[in-house]
Amino acid sequence: MDIIILLFLIFLSSLLSYPFIIKHNKLHETIDKPKLPPGSMGWPYIGETFQLYSQHPNIFFASKQKRYGEIFKTHILGCPCVMLASPEAARFVLVTHSHLFKPTYPKSKEKLIGSSALFFHQGHYHTRIRKLVQNSLSPESIKKLIPGIENEVISSLESWISIGQVVNTFHEMKKFSFNIGILSVFGNLESNYREQLKENYCIVEKGYNSFPNRIPGTSYSKAVLARQRIQEIISEIICKRKEHRSIEKDLLGHLLNYKNEKGEMLSDEEIADNVIGVLFAAQDTTASVLTWILKYLHDDQKLLEAIKAEQMAVYENNDGGKIQLTWSQIKNMPLTHRVILESLRMASIISFTFREAVVDVVYKGYLIPKGWKVMPLFRNIHHNPEFYPAPHSFDPSRFEFAPKPNTFMPFGIGVHSCPGNELAKLNMLILIHHLVTKFRWEVVENQSGVQYSPFPIPLQGLPTRFCRIK
Ligand code: HEM
Repeated sequence: MDIIILLFLIFLSSLLSYPFIIKHNKLHETIDKPKLPPGSMGWPYIGETFQLYSQHPNIFFASKQKRYGEIFKTHILGCPCVMLASPEAARFVLVTHSHLFKPTYPKSKEKLIGSSALFFHQGHYHTRIRKLVQNSLSPESIKKLIPGIENEVISSLESWISIGQVVNTFHEMKKFSFNIGILSVFGNLESNYREQLKENYCIVEKGYNSFPNRIPGTSYSKAVLARQRIQEIISEIICKRKEHRSIEKDLLGHLLNYKNEKGEMLSDEEIADNVIGVLFAAQDTTASVLTWILKYLHDDQKLLEAIKAEQMAVYENNDGGKIQLTWSQIKNMPLTHRVILESLRMASIISFTFREAVVDVVYKGYLIPKGWKVMPLFRNIHHNPEFYPAPHSFDPSRFEFAPKPNTFMPFGIGVHSCPGNELAKLNMLILIHHLVTKFRWEVVENQSGVQYSPFPIPLQGLPTRFCRIK
């Protein structure tokens, strides 16, 4: 009898478990074969490149996010891409699973900067170089740059008023940022080297944003030649330093003094690539943000008065600007600091970054196939009303409280995050101090549009007239 009941129970349980097994298999099917994220791949080969470039890129990204959510696929510049617009996804790609994604840049651009520059690498080589760059840009190192930065700020401001005419703010900020880049890389460099570097760098920059080809006379081929000349100038500077056995604490000094565990030093090419890389990373970024700051302050006179009050207190403390700024004074400018943070958020000049999946990766049930580009969208995160209420209004007071984790990434996050962020902020604080305490500025034909250069900047580079406060 017991046996009959047992057999009946086994039969019953097998009946009950049958549909469960099917369901179970189906469950496995979805786990084994994750689907691609939603989104459109556009036309064959050109994908959605035209849509991206024919409209404001921010409108492109924002409308995609509205339609598909925080992860979506697209196809731009000949590459299939997955775009990610949530803080968690940005952290997944750039921090917790960064080993599954490698940095990726077009070969033509890599050639102009130099293939040994740290941002093209990951792993051991990247860690070694990054440590050197970070040390040369640490608070301890950049503190020593304060007098040099102040000199650059004062001579830039003087030159803008001496012109007596309207200046293109962005162009002037670029010259200023380049000089600071030179200061942090080479210390006090002889002026003839500085001029030669500047001249050739301008040619490289023009070529960087042009169509890559080898036809002589084109911007790109001129840029390749100028790049070679920069390499030669840097080799000459290195040679002189070696002759004089000078041990400097600037970036070039850090790169020159490096020896690995086998006692091997960096080659002149590796050094030059990293010097050019840092100059490149520092210039347009800092210049665009500074241009935006001038616009935001100009457009909000009440805020400008409050900033002036904060800075005048420091100025008077320094005997009407006769004494140089100190590190602790610069670190204690809370309102000015919040204006910088809000400008970085609003302008989000690095709207996104690129990586490439090195294996098939599954994120939140979606497949990111090996070889696809992955783009964490910083700007979408910075402009998400869930994290920043009324995201399009300029409100520095929102930074009275720390933003939620991974929702504020103007300098990126993770192993490739910006090692120059403290220097960038130091430049901005010093420039704002001298500007508001001694000068006035008036934006000519103030317009609200954005121009891409390739970073977003105010229209026509913010034409401005500067004058001294009487
Ligand atoms: C407001 C100014 C700046 C902004 C907004 C900015 C932003 C960024 C961002 C977002 C990244 C990460 C890119 C990625 O993850 O793909 C980055 C990397 C980098 N930045 Fe900056 N940056 C600024 C100024 C500077 C300055 C002044 C320097 C140097 C003097 C600098 C040097 C670098 C370098 C070398 C990297 C590459 C780091 C690596 O790959 O490990 N940046 N920057």
